[in-house]
Amino acid sequence: NSELIHSYKGVPFPTRVSINQLNSLDAFEAREDDLLLVSYPKSGTHWLVEILKNLYHCTSGQVTIAPPLEFQDPSKICELRNLPGPRVIPTHLPQNMVPRQVRSKDCKVIYVIRNPKDTAVSMFHYYQQNPHLPTVHKWSTFLDLFLKGEVVYGSWIDHLLSWERAETNENTLFVYYESLKKDLPKYVQEISSFLGLSVTEEQAREVAKRSSFREMKERVEREKQRERPDPTNTVCALTSDRKLIFRKGAVGDWKNHFTAEQNATFEALLQDKINSSELASCVDS
Ligand code: PPS
Repeated sequence: NSELIHSYKGVPFPTRVSINQLNSLDAFEAREDDLLLVSYPKSGTHWLVEILKNLYHCTSGQVTIAPPLEFQDPSKICELRNLPGPRVIPTHLPQNMVPRQVRSKDCKVIYVIRNPKDTAVSMFHYYQQNPHLPTVHKWSTFLDLFLKGEVVYGSWIDHLLSWERAETNENTLFVYYESLKKDLPKYVQEISSFLGLSVTEEQAREVAKRSSFREMKERVEREKQRERPDPTNTVCALTSDRKLIFRKGAVGDWKNHFTAEQNATFEALLQDKINSSELASCVDS
């Protein structure tokens, strides 16, 4: 089922993101108060969306979670124009494909990083369950594809490096999945000050509670049972089925998948690049 993936400028994309959509990215009209939420797939995008939504709601009150940048339909540009700000715009795009205006308006960027071994495991399960992605039955086959960068959005390290190189300015915040797991209220406060919002310790704890894996997963399951989900309480999704997103939400699940040999191969192929990246070398292994 390779027709589910196609290549654009050398990067594999799900065919649900059409070439026409990718060619039209530069038509995107950015605003100064847009926040671009960038991640390689399976790094915690939905988690960050939930954190941001709860954070804005308890501070300034207003936020719009826009559809992911590359999924936006060019013929519906007016709808996007009408969305009230501030807009959170998720994307998995590498830096060189980001619309020109996002750069020229110097929009704030949050980049979410997750240990690539856990990211690969998460993506393997997602591939198996998502009808819009090819099914790869064997973990070893999938790992080979991941290491060659032949999965959606390409190579993990190239994605990170593209953002690291280009975005060293103060308008970019790098957030680690593993750090969020360790002390979510602390990072809610950090994100809040990055955005110029003001959150009390108690509010940060409340945001963290509402954004916990268990709460989010339970909420999605409860919504599934309702005929019409409450749109204001909905966990946003890049995929049509949100249930696929909440699998384990854990750090270190790679240890249940990688053999010692696979781990050695993974490190041999990635370690040099990881060492040369200030950000990647901070990822817990
Ligand atoms: S996607 O489809 O690329 O947008 O997926 P993404 O949201 O980036 O990543 C999905 C993984 O994030 C986990 N997740 C969470 N972990 C901890 N806490 C919370 N609240 C949370 N929400 C989502 C989700 O479970 C996926 O990881 P795995 O390892 O597969 O469970």
